[in-house]
Amino acid sequence: MNILDEKFAEFQKLPTEERIECFEKDNRLFDMIRSQQLNREIINDIFDITNHLRRISKDKSGSIFMQNILCHKRAMLWFTQPSSRTFLSFESACHMLGIKTSEIRDARVSSEIKGESFDDSLRTFSSYTDLIIMRHKGENVAERAAWLLNTHAKRPIPVINGGSGSDQHPTQAILDVYTLQRSFEEQGGLDGKTILMCGDLKRGRTVRSLSYLMKNFEDIKIIYAAPRAFQMRDDVCGFLERHDIPYVFETEALGNVLPEADAIYMTRIQDEHDTISGESDKIDTSGFRLGPSDMSKIKSTAIIMHPFPRRDEIDVAIDADPRAMYWRQERNGMWTRAALIAYIFDVHDEILNY
Ligand code: NCD
Repeated sequence: MNILDEKFAEFQKLPTEERIECFEKDNRLFDMIRSQQLNREIINDIFDITNHLRRISKDKSGSIFMQNILCHKRAMLWFTQPSSRTFLSFESACHMLGIKTSEIRDARVSSEIKGESFDDSLRTFSSYTDLIIMRHKGENVAERAAWLLNTHAKRPIPVINGGSGSDQHPTQAILDVYTLQRSFEEQGGLDGKTILMCGDLKRGRTVRSLSYLMKNFEDIKIIYAAPRAFQMRDDVCGFLERHDIPYVFETEALGNVLPEADAIYMTRIQDEHDTISGESDKIDTSGFRLGPSDMSKIKSTAIIMHPFPRRDEIDVAIDADPRAMYWRQERNGMWTRAALIAYIFDVHDEILNY
């Protein structure tokens, strides 16, 4: 352990509420590391910017206007864990705002292979860029990057977490909530709705980040449907209890709880996190898939979501059902990520006033 390891270990012992203060600057969101950083005001602002961005970029003059907004900035996409859609949506979001991007997608081509520490690589990269967007298999790596730059770098730059191990994926949660709010626009928004999350809840960072974000909405109920081995972890459940958000576990079959749900959020089994190869295959997940015969059990106003990639959790025959929202959900990623970046750089008034 070097001195930075020791200091970071101390930092990690702090309660989350204190830790996330490190990711603010002048009382504003600076880094986006954990969903717990977001409040309703920030969420509403980001959604407002998102709606404007969508409208403005419909024509050429609007697109040209947007490409000037952050044309003086550079972003680095540091994605050393497999990604196509999140990577592309971030890259497109940057380009929409005129930000120039560079990328590292394979740790084997960086000096980490020569024995350089993560901290030194980070400091090097941060001197070439104005924003780091990071996906990493380690749970705390994006957090460490933001902490290190904010506390030890002469020129701190924002870090956005594009997925950290099995822990968090806050920008996915933002696009998920945006999709929920829009889908329920005529039913009073997300407040008062029952959200069913199904699949690998234990190791799925999307459902974890989405659960944390629910603290910002009124009268939400959560149903976690998964075999016991894949049920939601205690840290998230404890958070829900502290915020008076009721949740129940369904461990037998998804079909038992489908009629109650306003949104059904399906996820794949995250077997890349298996500690013993093949251990996930031993768990029977057959009761936690959505097929055409389930559709009659689902409310006519409900929506079906998935962060993708999917395997066999949702039968492709369902794709044509108007309640299948996952393709639209995916498209929302680019818009909400562009809005978040504009918000972090504090240039959103230009967009809102266009
Ligand atoms: C998710 C992820 O990487 O956590 N995908 C995504 O970013 N849209 C979900 C998954 O991999 O299952």
